[in-house]
Amino acid sequence: MPDLKIAPSILASDFSRLGEEIEAVVNAGADWIHVDVMDGHFAPNITIGPPVVAALRSRCSVPLDVHLMISDPGYYAEAFCEAGADLVSFHVEAAKHPHRLINCIKERGCKAGVVLNPGTSHDELEYLAEYVDMVLVMTVNPGFGGQSFIPAMLRKIECIRAMIGDRDLEVDGGIDDLTAREVVEAGANVLVAGSYIYNADSYIDAIESLKAAESAAPRR
Ligand code: DX5
Ligand code: ZN
Repeated sequence: MPDLKIAPSILASDFSRLGEEIEAVVNAGADWIHVDVMDGHFAPNITIGPPVVAALRSRCSVPLDVHLMISDPGYYAEAFCEAGADLVSFHVEAAKHPHRLINCIKERGCKAGVVLNPGTSHDELEYLAEYVDMVLVMTVNPGFGGQSFIPAMLRKIECIRAMIGDRDLEVDGGIDDLTAREVVEAGANVLVAGSYIYNADSYIDAIESLKAAESAAPRR
């Protein structure tokens, strides 16, 4: 298993103080910063776009992990790469030409990830998995923070870990100290957490409690 990484989702942070909120979780031990991009079409919410990512770049000393929940990722991915994303992930349900988009993202110097909604089978990865740097398994439906983890995703995580070897497998939605252990045991190694971290009294304690899930990781 690759190293466990914690990626706080700024969706749950105080948007009036985004720069400070990023620095606070990085100082508390965050490995990546997860940026949720929603367009009001693919996901039933509208969040942030490339200018905000560009503004955050200089305030963020760790990789920016940009999760595109948008209808036309092929059209917009390049703008997020240029804004300073380190990793750009798009949904297989939304991409018309996923191979082309993976290449486009990599050619712009970013890592490329593909994302599966809860209702999408890991079979969709059969001809894609070998080309991506990361797979992101949605453990809630896209749109909002604070939703409940969907347990059936554990089986999907196990299947995908068997497909991608030592590459990153990220999970997103409903992650707390308890679900963290379950997903890590199933094979996930990048944990996105929004409300669990940003609603906590102590960001350090919250991040440490997620990192403790490492003891549940399967032995190689
Ligand atoms: C859901 C987003 C998630 C969300 C997670 O559409 O992709 O990143 O912010 O929030 P929590 O951790 O609160 O479930
Ligand atoms: Zn996300």
